Amino acid sequence: MLKTFSAILMFLGAALMAQPSSGRFDQGSKVFRLDGGQVSYAFGVNARGELQQLYWGARLGATDRVPAAVSRREWASFDSSYNNTPQEFAGWGAGLFAEPALKVTFADGNRDLVLHYLSHTETADGFDVVLKDISREVYVTLHYAMDPESGILARSATIQNREAQPVTVEQAAAAAWSLPAARYTLNYLTGRWAGEWTLTQEAVHPGARVIESRRGSTGHQANPWFAIAAGAPEQMQEQHGDVWFGALAWSGSWRITVEQDQLEQVRVTGGFNPFDFGYVLHPQESLETPVFYGGYSGNGLGGASRLLQHFELTHILPHAAAGGAPKPRPVIYNSWEATEFRVNEAGQMALAEKAAALGIDRFVMDDGWFGQRKDDHAGLGDWYVNKEKFPNGLKPLIDKVHGLGMSFGLWVEPEMVNPDSDLYRLHPDWVLSFPGRPRSEQRNQLVLNLARPEVRAYLLSFLDKLLSENDIAFLKWDYNRNWSEPGWDQLPAAEQKRVYVEYTRNLYSILAELERKHPKVEFESCSGGGGRVDLGILRYADEVWPSDNTDPFDRLTQQDGFTYAYTPQIMMAWVTDSPHWLNRRATSLSYRMLSSMQGSLGIGANIANWTAEETALAKRLIAAYRQVQPTIVQGDLYRLISPRQGSEFSATQTVNADKSQSVFFAFIHSTQEGHTFPQLKLQGLDPAGEYALSAIEGKAGQGTPAEASGAWWMNHGLDMDEGFRGDFQAVAFRLDRK
Ligand code: DGJ
Repeated sequence: MLKTFSAILMFLGAALMAQPSSGRFDQGSKVFRLDGGQVSYAFGVNARGELQQLYWGARLGATDRVPAAVSRREWASFDSSYNNTPQEFAGWGAGLFAEPALKVTFADGNRDLVLHYLSHTETADGFDVVLKDISREVYVTLHYAMDPESGILARSATIQNREAQPVTVEQAAAAAWSLPAARYTLNYLTGRWAGEWTLTQEAVHPGARVIESRRGSTGHQANPWFAIAAGAPEQMQEQHGDVWFGALAWSGSWRITVEQDQLEQVRVTGGFNPFDFGYVLHPQESLETPVFYGGYSGNGLGGASRLLQHFELTHILPHAAAGGAPKPRPVIYNSWEATEFRVNEAGQMALAEKAAALGIDRFVMDDGWFGQRKDDHAGLGDWYVNKEKFPNGLKPLIDKVHGLGMSFGLWVEPEMVNPDSDLYRLHPDWVLSFPGRPRSEQRNQLVLNLARPEVRAYLLSFLDKLLSENDIAFLKWDYNRNWSEPGWDQLPAAEQKRVYVEYTRNLYSILAELERKHPKVEFESCSGGGGRVDLGILRYADEVWPSDNTDPFDRLTQQDGFTYAYTPQIMMAWVTDSPHWLNRRATSLSYRMLSSMQGSLGIGANIANWTAEETALAKRLIAAYRQVQPTIVQGDLYRLISPRQGSEFSATQTVNADKSQSVFFAFIHSTQEGHTFPQLKLQGLDPAGEYALSAIEGKAGQGTPAEASGAWWMNHGLDMDEGFRGDFQAVAFRLDRK
C-alpha cells in the first residue's frame, strides 16, 4: 500500500517537474490558455470580439478556469472601453489613444482599423489566431508558441491585405504585452560606443517610455530587451519577486514602448520602429513582423535572466545539438588591438606562433587584409586579398595556423563601402542615398543598400567564394556605422520605405544561405562592439562582440548588464594590453584574465611583447578556464555582488545543470578604509552535496574547509584571504561535488 502511494507520488512529482506546455481553448468561455515551465498565459475573446489579455504570470493550477474576457468599462467619455481594454493586438481605430499594434492607411483614405477575432488553429506549441477588420479585408494572424521548459512565449503577427487596393502599413508591432495596474520598475539596457550595456532602472510612470533604434540596425544606444519588475526601484531584488521580460528578435530599426495608461495599467508594445515606416501591402501581400519573446519569473531579475539565457542556448543560437546547447566557444586570439590595419603574412604568422604556445584554439585576423586597406579611408567593398601584405594569398597563413593546431577566422564588413574603392567607383548607385542629396560618411564609409537584389547577390557571391576558396572556420561580421539618407530610388516613391524591412531580411537570408552552404562556418555579430546584438541576429551568429571597450574593469559592469539579456556563451571577452588604450588604466594580467574568463575567453593583446612570466600565467589560466568553461558560459548565473554604481566589490557565480560544479569570481575595485571583502554566500548548489573547493587564482581565508556541503557554502559562505585587498584585484574558485 505504502509502496503504491509513494509510486503515485513519484509519478506526480515527475509529471510536475516535466510540466509540459499545453495550449487549450475553452469553447464556452472563449479563453485561450498556454502553460509552460512555471508560467501561464491566457487571453480571450470579449463580447465585442476583441482579443483581450487575461493573465500572464506564475503557473495556474491545471484545473483552474480563467474567466471569460470582459472588456474594461468606459471610465469617462474621454476614456473609452476600447482604449482601456488590454487588447492583445489593437488596431488604430475606434478612438484608440494607447500605442496601437497596427496602424494602416487604406487606398481611399480610411485609416480606421478595428480588429476582431475570426478563427484560430491549434499548433504544436500554441495557437494561430486570425483577426479581421470589422469591414475591410485586412487579416492579421497572431502566432503564439510557448516553450514547454521555460514558459517563454514567442509572439509575432502576419498582416495580410485581401483588399482590391494597396494598404500602407504605418506601424506594425509583433505583440503587445499587458500588466495590471501596480507599482513597477522598468529595467532596460542603454549605452553608446565603448559604453554599452548599462542597466537602467526607473519607476514605470504615467505616460510612455520609448526604447528604440532609428538607426537601421539594433544600435548601441539601447537594446531591444526589457524587464518589468514588481515594486519600486529601491525594492529591486536579484533573486526574488515577479519579473516580466521580453526581447525582440529584430536587427533593423525597432521600438519598444512601455506605457502606463490613465488607469495605471501597463502595456508594452514592440516591433518595427514606426518612425519613417511605411510598408505598402499590395493585394494578397503579407507582412511578417519580427518575433517578440516574453517570459515571466518569480525569482527576480536573476531568475529572469537565467530563463532567457537558457532559452537562447537551446532555442535561438545556431549550431546547437538537437535539444541542447551549442558547444562552448573556442578560445580565440584576435589581431585587432595588436596590429590594427598593419597586418601582413610575417607579422600574423609570428602572432599565430605565440597564440598557439598559449593554448589558443582559433586565430582570427581582423581588419586590413583586403583591397587597398591601409587605414579606414579605403578598401571596404573590395574583397580581394591585398597582394602587398599577402603576396601568396591567405593560404600560407591559414596553413600555418592549421599547422599550429588552431582553426582560422577572418574579419569582414560586407555591408559597407568606402568611396575610395573599386566597388564604389563601379556602382555608386548601390549605397543608401537620396538622389541629389549629400551622402553622409561615417568612418569614411557608406552603407550599401542590402535591400537591393543585386547588392544581396554581390555580398553572397563574394562571401561564398571567400569561404569556398579558403579553409575558414569563422567570420567576424562587422558593421561600423548607422544609416543616413535611407533612400532606395529604384523603387516608386511610395514603396521606398520597404528598405527598413527588406534590408534586414536580406541580411538574415545571406547568413542563412551561407550557413546552408558552409554549415561548419561560425559567425560573430560585431558592430563596432555591441551595436548588433539581438535575438534576430542570434539565430545566425554564434557569438557577439559586446564592446570595443576591453578595459577589464569597465567590462565588469558591461558584462553584468549584458547578461541580464544574453548568455555568457556569446559574450566574447578579450584580454588586451595594459595600460588600456581607452582609460589609460593599468591592471595586472591576472585581473585582466579573470575579468575575461567570466565570458567566452579570447586574447587580443600584443602577445609578441609578453614576457615569459606573462605567457606562463596566461597559459595556465587558459588551461584552467577550459576545464570549467561549460559551467561558466552555460551554467546558471548568479550575480552575488553587483559591480554597478561604483561598488567597491563585485562577484558572480555559475552553477552547472546537475549542480556538480560551480565557479565564482570576486573583484575589488579599490579597497577603502581597510574593508574586508564580504563573506561570499553562494547560491544554487545542492545543499546535501559535498563540494571540494579549489582556487583557480587567489587564496581562500584561513580555516576555510577544503570540503563542505552545499548548505555550508550557501549559508556560511566563503571568507577571502586577508590579503585580498588593494586596487583592481581578482580571485576565482571552483567547487566540485565529490
Ligand atoms: C570594430 C570592431 O568592433 C573592432 O573589434 C575591429 O574589428 C574594428 N572594427 C576593425 O575595423
